[in-house]
Amino acid sequence: MSNIKRLAVLTSGGDAPGMNACIRAILLTASACNIDVIGFKHGFNGLLEQEYQTLHPQHVDNIIQRGGTILKSARCPALEQPDGPARAAATLQQLNIDALIVIGGDGSFRGTMAISKHYDGQLIGVPGTIDNDVDGTDNTIGFATAIDTALDAIDKIRDTADAFERIFLVELMGRHSGYISLAAGIAGGAEQIICPEFGQLSPDNLRAIIKPIQHAQLLKGKSSYLIVVAEHSYPGGATALADALTKAIGIECRACILGHIQRGGSPVGADRILATKLGAYAVEQLLQGANLMMAGEVNGQACLYPLAKTGAREKAIDPFLVRWQQQIGSY
Ligand code: F6P
Repeated sequence: MSNIKRLAVLTSGGDAPGMNACIRAILLTASACNIDVIGFKHGFNGLLEQEYQTLHPQHVDNIIQRGGTILKSARCPALEQPDGPARAAATLQQLNIDALIVIGGDGSFRGTMAISKHYDGQLIGVPGTIDNDVDGTDNTIGFATAIDTALDAIDKIRDTADAFERIFLVELMGRHSGYISLAAGIAGGAEQIICPEFGQLSPDNLRAIIKPIQHAQLLKGKSSYLIVVAEHSYPGGATALADALTKAIGIECRACILGHIQRGGSPVGADRILATKLGAYAVEQLLQGANLMMAGEVNGQACLYPLAKTGAREKAIDPFLVRWQQQIGSY
């Protein structure tokens, strides 16, 4: 058992719907155990700049349904400076913080690992990113909401694509992974899905995309055709790919970049529940002595996973859906 009196929490990297629900669960769980909670602002910058606030239950009233994060988030290049991790750790020591919970993605967990070299307290991560590209958990907080947001847009684009019998390319986020694209593409009935996991496309190897389009045109005549493109799958993104396809097949292709809209919005139920479970579990596990672990969920069970392994990229996009999409998705 660990004797934690003061606990800190921060949200880091790309914000994700459900981060607020997680902060709430952490605060409520800690308060029930008579633990004080400090919230650092703007990600790791709050540690470096000593920008923080004491959190009380009233601070988390009515936030479970809100997107974004009440603690604000940021990338923190300063933490990557040679003195960054030691400065961050010094703040934790000065403020007598016994444990820190970092809600973020694997980049944030790398920062957490760096701090651990200078810090005597406990560190734990909770996976919060729309990208779902974190090992040790089936889903990250925010992923489910991002799928629904993307899907809502895809359905709308389908309407106009159908009306104009157009080919549309919809670019979705995901950093270097295709989780959002595969999920939203499948659920949106996209004719093609292009992800970084399928290899880097180049202007010289568009044949694999063009052939199914031409096949579909022959089969169905003029009709709408939707290609979901994960960001970073093609140099210049979906806009450049749409231009290249327009030139290659002689039919106008339109691009729609969904962008940061995928990060916002009220978290769906699944994200609120996951965030609540993992936030509460993180506090409980800290009290059991957990350190340098991530609180994740695998097959419905909350579980710990070494923080150092969360960025190994061993988790893969659903191979069954990939195979199925490649088999029939082009028609
Ligand atoms: O990691 C979340 C994410 O939204 C990625 O999908 C995207 O590549 C990146 O962040 C965008 O980062 P920024 O908001 O810093 O441009």
